[in-house]
Amino acid sequence: MPSSHQIKQAVLITGATSGIGLACAEYYTAKGFNVIACGRNQSVLNSLNVSHTLGFDITNAQQVKQAAAELQQYLASEQLTLQQVILNAGTCEYVDDVMHFDASLFSRVIETNLVAVGYCIESFLPLITAKGQLGLMSSSAIYLPFSRAQAYGASKAAIDYLGRSLRLDLTLNPATKIGVSVICPGFVATPLTDKNDFDMPMRISSEQAAVEIFNGMAKKQFEIHFPKKFTRLLKFLSWLPENLQLKILAKISH
Ligand SMILES: NC(=O)c1ccc[n+]([C@@H]2O[C@H](COP(=O)([O-])OP(=O)(O)OC[C@H]3O[C@@H](n4cnc5c(N)ncnc54)[C@H](OP(=O)(O)O)[C@@H]3O)[C@@H](O)[C@H]2O)c1
Repeated sequence: MPSSHQIKQAVLITGATSGIGLACAEYYTAKGFNVIACGRNQSVLNSLNVSHTLGFDITNAQQVKQAAAELQQYLASEQLTLQQVILNAGTCEYVDDVMHFDASLFSRVIETNLVAVGYCIESFLPLITAKGQLGLMSSSAIYLPFSRAQAYGASKAAIDYLGRSLRLDLTLNPATKIGVSVICPGFVATPLTDKNDFDMPMRISSEQAAVEIFNGMAKKQFEIHFPKKFTRLLKFLSWLPENLQLKILAKISH
């Protein structure tokens, strides 16, 4: 049974209709949190066993603002404290032929994975309680450059910078002390990665990812990276001299 303290805590999760976000919504609910699940797919939202749902497109600034207004009313009526916000929703598209660089693909990925995160921060950050926690979904792809990942990797590397910079102004600000986490998963089995046509070493389940995210957010870790064997290997490769790193990456890529 959740304690009375936990009952008043709420977490908002974007991208809660599928994959990692869905697993987080289920795990946080099991842990006694009031989960506000967000997504576009209304039929999936209706089927979720969570406290509240918000259907909106994160790339539509007006819809995000409306969702935040509805959230504010909901929190007030239920006397809930918004303890955590996890901006998890995202997409991945690979650039198949860099010599025919698809700028509209690039724009789509940056719009969903980066610009829309800005809309969500604008609308949801003011609702997070002091000493709460903001989680931003990045990726372990940021540790090394990967073939065909120009759009996805760039969007997730930008999220990492965004998180580092936000931490300075939020966590160190005595008025807010809101913690920031940048979440960097390796491969997680979800509909997003089911589409991949390449090997995905050490791929874990979305349920395992949810446990890692829950624990990392609870401990207010800045960088939540997992599975450790995989992410530590990438980090180690990133410390190698540039030439050696390139040789290894060339072998993996082609
Ligand atoms: N799977 C991995 O291996 C992996 C690794 C590292 C990082 N990540 C990141 O983790 C996050 C979740 O990925 P996943 O693998 O769980 O993918 P997924 O199963 O495809 O889920 C993506 C979620 O994002 C939501 N979404 C996408 N575009 C949206 C939009 N414009 N407005 C509102 N919601 C939107 C989708 O909701 P609707 O369809 O309802 O709109 C869905 O719930 C992504 O940011 C991804 O980049 C994944």
